[in-house]
Amino acid sequence: MELLVTLGDIYGADGLIDITSAHVSGASYKIIGDAGLEFVEDFSRSARVRVPTTVNPVGMDLGAWKETGIPEDFALKQKRIAEAYRRMGVTETWSCVPYQVGNRPRLGEHVAWAESSAAIFANSVLGARTNREGGPSALAAAITGWTSDYGLHLDENRRATDRIIVSTPVRGYEYSLLGHHLGRLLGAGVPYIEGLEGTEDELKALGAAMATSSDISMFHVSGLTPEWEVAEPEGLETHGVGKDDLEEAKAELLSAEDYEMIAFGCPQLSELELQEVAELMEAHRPKVPVWAFTSRAVAQRGREAIRRIEELGGRVVLDTCPEVMPLDLVARDVGTASAKAAVYLPSLSGQRVVIDGHEELMRRKR
Ligand code: F3S
Repeated sequence: MELLVTLGDIYGADGLIDITSAHVSGASYKIIGDAGLEFVEDFSRSARVRVPTTVNPVGMDLGAWKETGIPEDFALKQKRIAEAYRRMGVTETWSCVPYQVGNRPRLGEHVAWAESSAAIFANSVLGARTNREGGPSALAAAITGWTSDYGLHLDENRRATDRIIVSTPVRGYEYSLLGHHLGRLLGAGVPYIEGLEGTEDELKALGAAMATSSDISMFHVSGLTPEWEVAEPEGLETHGVGKDDLEEAKAELLSAEDYEMIAFGCPQLSELELQEVAELMEAHRPKVPVWAFTSRAVAQRGREAIRRIEELGGRVVLDTCPEVMPLDLVARDVGTASAKAAVYLPSLSGQRVVIDGHEELMRRKR
């Protein structure tokens, strides 16, 4: 309560509001280290969550960590973190896409979600209401069932602040480039974007990249997202986005000339994306290892795609992701379709990346 009330005071909240779900981050030992382990274990001695709560990826595949080169001491500490969340009653999703694994709030619901890519998706694509929580504040909200009423919980902060007109067709991983570009361009605010027809997975990529390169936690897409009609973009500063801007974003994110492996799934792959990876592997038979990161819940539904990927020598890794597991023990130079991965693999683990579409990455390595 102290944590929530202090945050509310800082941001000028009127009071506390009920939440219908929480999503907590800070589950990977690679990211939170010994201090985080101690923090979570300390909470888990007496605290239990009061609302349905999902949790971000851990730092390894909890079932197949040995096969993916995880050291024993890392695994032991990682298991202690997972056990602490389990004790608190958190649903063991180990996923950064809670909305694709059963925690999918409806329009207008107040939630408290950590994980910037999930929070921006909840606000923008689902029309739920959350601030970009940190791991501890999301956990505090999960335990109390409340959050402070400020920021994106309020109507006035959900209106558009900038108008964006996209004049080039955007598809697949280019949504990630667009998100990176818009984040760099605006830094903060609520963009109102015209000229897109993205799928759910494309909007997932757009938001994840935008939330990485900026403080933006909500966007509208004209004709597509649930609050676009009340976004009020009239009279706002307008920015055009063309093909050159996407190419510039790609050039900025590129840090390697070549790659030793391909890692897909930042954010973790949906069932449809798993199927796409399987089809592209069949078509292009890439010569480098292909690792596809997803959640256990999506893997349950995507068994057939997983069988096809594994038959062609690919690996499907569950519970974790390319950045929060020590993937640097496997490869230094990585092919990715994600702008978020292209930012974090270098900054977290000193890796280098080639960023391109799923198909282009596989085709280059035939
Ligand atoms: Fe998810 Fe890991 Fe990317 S948590 S958004 S796959 S950095």
